[in-house]
Amino acid sequence: MRRSIVAGNWKMNKTIPDGVELAGALSDGAGEFIDSCDVVLCPPFTAVKAVADRILGSEIDVGAQDVHWESSGAFTGEVSCEMLVDAGCSWVIIGHSERRAMFGETDDAVNKKMKAAISAGLKPVICVGETLAQREEGSASEVVRRQVKGAFAGVSGEDASKAVVAYEPVWAIGTGRASTGEDANAMARMIRDTLAELYSHDVSEAVRIQYGGSVKPGNMAEFAQQPEIDGALVGGASLKADDFIGIIRAMIDSKK
Ligand code: 13P
Repeated sequence: MRRSIVAGNWKMNKTIPDGVELAGALSDGAGEFIDSCDVVLCPPFTAVKAVADRILGSEIDVGAQDVHWESSGAFTGEVSCEMLVDAGCSWVIIGHSERRAMFGETDDAVNKKMKAAISAGLKPVICVGETLAQREEGSASEVVRRQVKGAFAGVSGEDASKAVVAYEPVWAIGTGRASTGEDANAMARMIRDTLAELYSHDVSEAVRIQYGGSVKPGNMAEFAQQPEIDGALVGGASLKADDFIGIIRAMIDSKK
């Protein structure tokens, strides 16, 4: 049985004091019941260290929203895996659709970032997902398959099994129009089949797959009840302690 994982992607939100306050409310409010679920907070870079310090010793982990693949050097504006580890991160989101669409992130960059993250001891959350146009023209599976193959190229089976894949259809992100549980499960199944082709049945069964896109406390159960879905990557609803705790609760209760 795969362990559930709920991650909050704060995107470009929260000052340091606001982030510390939210992290504190979550670690106080979620403390006792989250033993059966990995919970990860991904603040903006500026708040990573302060949030990590605030929840040190709790069950909650900290992740970043992006990373560069080089360790150090003349890469103005970039942050390395080693720097993220130094700041208290154990996770990193890679290849979010906003980075792909707005900042030109390619499958090749995602692959380099994934390899760098793994070798630095960071656990990657690899984001994949189709646009509305791609879904409407019937190429959603093909697009997501290509993204998965691109991300995992040259990654060993042992390393691959530690990764998390977040299936986030672009049309569902921030729109209030979530996928259905059934459709998300079918895409997660297709991702698992792709991993089985690349590696083995065992690796494909070990990789955890999240759904992301307009997840709320009220619809989490629909996704969590699906056999192929092991958690959620949450944007907007991760910015409020009550909502995020409600999502974690729904995740845990649905997998009982
Ligand atoms: P929303 O939950 O705001 O739709 O965002 C999803 C997302 O992009 C998480 O990475």
